[in-house]
Amino acid sequence: MLSALDAADSLAPFRTRFALPAGIVYLDGNSLGPLPAATPALLADAVTRQWGTGLIRSWNDEAWIDLPATIGAAIAPIIGAPPDCVIACDSVSVNLYKLAGAALMLRPGRRKILVEAGDFPTDRYILDGLARTTGARCEAVPRGDVAAAIDGDTALVVLSHVHFSTGAVHDMAALTAAAHAAGALILWDLSHSAGALAVALDADNADFAVGCGYKYLNGGPGAPAFAFAAARHHAALQPPLQGWMGHAAPFAFAADWSPAPGIRRLLAGTPPVLAMAALAAGVATFAGVDMAAAEAKSAALAQCFARLAAARCPGVAVEMPHRLRHGAQVVLRHPQARRVMAALIAHGVIGDCRPPDRMRFGFPALYTRFADIGIAVDTLAAVLASGEWQDARFDALGQVS
Ligand SMILES: Cc1ncc(COP(=O)(O)O)c(C=O)c1O
Repeated sequence: MLSALDAADSLAPFRTRFALPAGIVYLDGNSLGPLPAATPALLADAVTRQWGTGLIRSWNDEAWIDLPATIGAAIAPIIGAPPDCVIACDSVSVNLYKLAGAALMLRPGRRKILVEAGDFPTDRYILDGLARTTGARCEAVPRGDVAAAIDGDTALVVLSHVHFSTGAVHDMAALTAAAHAAGALILWDLSHSAGALAVALDADNADFAVGCGYKYLNGGPGAPAFAFAAARHHAALQPPLQGWMGHAAPFAFAADWSPAPGIRRLLAGTPPVLAMAALAAGVATFAGVDMAAAEAKSAALAQCFARLAAARCPGVAVEMPHRLRHGAQVVLRHPQARRVMAALIAHGVIGDCRPPDRMRFGFPALYTRFADIGIAVDTLAAVLASGEWQDARFDALGQVS
C-alpha cells in the first residue's frame, strides 16, 4: 500500500536531487536539511575556481556581491513574496533584531511587542533584548489569546507561522489583518514553514518575515537565513544595524550611513560566500516545485505516520493539534522520549526531541517516501516492544534546533 503511494507520487522524482545515505530513514529535515546532490560540486567550484583562481575579482566576475539579493529572489517564490522583497543574510536571530527594531521605529509612541508564550526561545530573547534598549516591552500571551491582546499600544506582533515544537499553524491572513486593524505591524518567523508549506506573504499582506536556510531549504549546517519586508515599507525602513553592506554606496567609504534602496538596506556585513554557495544549491532543490503540492504530500505523509504510529506503537501519544493544517512534522510523546529516540537513531531512523517528552518527526516532501514511514513505524514498534530503549544513551542527541 505504501509502495503504491510512492508510485503515484508526482514529487517522487525530486528525491534524486539529494545525496541521502543508504540504510537511513531521515526524518529530521525540519531541523537540518540533507545534502543536495549538487552541493559538493558547486562548493568545490566556489572554492577552487571562483576563490582559488578568480581571487578578489570574483566579487564582480562571479557576482558574489549580489548573492544575498539573488538567493533572496530565488527564495521569494517559495514563500509567496516578490523577488525584490527578500534578502539572504545573517541568522534568523539577527534578522529578527534588524526587522523588529525597524518596525518599532515605524510605530513611534507604541511600546508593546506581542509574542506567543512558548514560541521558539531565540525570538523572545532577541525581542527582550531589543525592548531593553528601546524602552519597548515584550508581552507573551497564550496562543489562543494573541488576537485579543493586539491593542492600541502594540507596535509589532511576532509569531511563528508553524510552531517549532507542536507543528501548529497560525492563520497568517487573519492575524495579519487583526494586527493591521489595530494599527500594528506583524513579523512572521517562517523557520518551520519556508520550504514546508505553501506560504503567501504577499497575498496575506504580511509586513515582515524571517526564516531559516538550514532546515527545509537544505542550505547546510548554519546556512544563512533570510529576511522579507513588504515593498510598502522599504523607503521608511531604518534597520538598527547600519552596516556598510546596507549602504547605498558601500565602496564610496562615506563617513555617514545612507541606506541602500529597497531590501538591500537590511544587509549589515560582508556575505559569507561559501555558505551562500551552499544555500543557493539548497534553494535550487525547489526549482519547479509547486509548494501547494509539497504541502499536500507532507500532510499525507504526516497523517499516514500518525495513523500507523497510533495503531502500532503502544505507549506513545500522537500529537497533531491542528487537523486542518499542520506543519510538515508529527510529534509523538513518550515519558522517556530521548531514550526512545536514541534507540531509534541507533537503528537508522533519525528524528529529534524537544522537551519535555516530544519526539519530532519531519516529513519534507521533496525526499521523504511513504515507504520510509513504514520503516520508521516498524522500527519504533520494535524498539518499544523490545524495551531496549531503557538502556539507550542519549548524550549524543545534541541537535541544536
Ligand atoms: C522558529 C525558529 N526561529 C529561529 C530559529 C533560530 O534561527 P537562527 O539559529 O538562525 O538564529 C529556529 C531554529 O531552530 C527556529 O526554529
